[in-house]
Amino acid sequence: MLRFFKPFSAQQYFSYRRIHTTPQPNDFIILLMPNHKKLVIQLTEHKIQQKNIAFTEGFVPISTIMQTAYGNVIPIFKKAEDGSAVADSQQFLLLMKPTFHDLLSQSKRLTQVLFNKDSSYIIDQLQITHQSKVLEIGTGSGYMTSCLAHRIQPGPGKVYSFETNESHYKTAQKTIAFFGFNEFVQLHNVNIAEGNLSQYIEPDSMDAVFLDLKDPLPILPRVYDALRKDSGNLCIFLPTMNQIVQVLQWFATSKKFVMVRMEELLLRSYKCNPSRLRPNDTMHAHSGYLLFARPLQRKSVELFTQENEEEINEDANLEGSFMGLFRHDRKKNVNKTFGNDSKI
Ligand SMILES: C[S@@+](CC[C@H](N)C(=O)[O-])C[C@H]1O[C@@H](n2cnc3c(N)ncnc32)[C@H](O)[C@@H]1O
Repeated sequence: MLRFFKPFSAQQYFSYRRIHTTPQPNDFIILLMPNHKKLVIQLTEHKIQQKNIAFTEGFVPISTIMQTAYGNVIPIFKKAEDGSAVADSQQFLLLMKPTFHDLLSQSKRLTQVLFNKDSSYIIDQLQITHQSKVLEIGTGSGYMTSCLAHRIQPGPGKVYSFETNESHYKTAQKTIAFFGFNEFVQLHNVNIAEGNLSQYIEPDSMDAVFLDLKDPLPILPRVYDALRKDSGNLCIFLPTMNQIVQVLQWFATSKKFVMVRMEELLLRSYKCNPSRLRPNDTMHAHSGYLLFARPLQRKSVELFTQENEEEINEDANLEGSFMGLFRHDRKKNVNKTFGNDSKI
């Protein structure tokens, strides 16, 4: 596992306008082995001085790697009896540029971290752009923070991230610095259950809030205060249903959030062999539940209740079906008889 690494410019590395087609000093590379094992290596000064990268099958001179354009194969070398290096004509490695997620998956983790399947979807559903101001509570190892910053770069948006545990905070700090994302992240070592959010961010200013912590309940009122009421989006990531039920109960009593939806993503990978295409033998069966909601303007809080919304959602689900038509008719009739306050 890669620990902490030499600095490199993530902005240049992940830019679509990247200028280098061959590996540069301090770049990360992927060497794909003949057995399809993926080796992620950083070409540090120390590594370059070692001259060769050795494997069980042989070795590859670093000078050869640095002269090879990404996407090409490199022969594996073996030592001849006279000590000279001889390229194997049968065995090759493939040189590839790592993706952002290749590197993220290698960085240090002290906590449960978000999987790519969840982080990408959450970022999309929260409508994060390079202009977004995002509040994150529960920085953890900084995986999601890095994903958010990756989307926000080159700014002017920002992630305001809070972490109570000092060693998690320091690990996240290093991960964010490694990717060169410091200017897109404001990281605080603060227990938000005790601290005052408005010390750090303006009320009604956050385009999105993402919560990944064990007990989000005590901070929900302050999360509401922080969110933009005209367009803000909230996502809470929770691994157990018990936690979700508590948040749903809070939504129902506070009436501050609407358009509540709970989702779970299951991702199945396949063995990409055309002659026997089938799923991988194992999969991650569970990561967590995603709870999305949108804040109401303060003056509308008492007017639009969760119960009404539930009925509307049910109707929307039945729309077009016989049951849907029946339900709409039934509702109209009841309203005619008993007025709009009646429930069916
Ligand atoms: C599951 S981890 C978050 C992982 C993170 N999403 C990632 O992808 O790396 C939850 C983190 O929330 C932090 N936490 C719990 N309660 C907190 C609070 N009241 N204020 C700030 N951080 C808190 C914990 O210390 C822990 O590091």
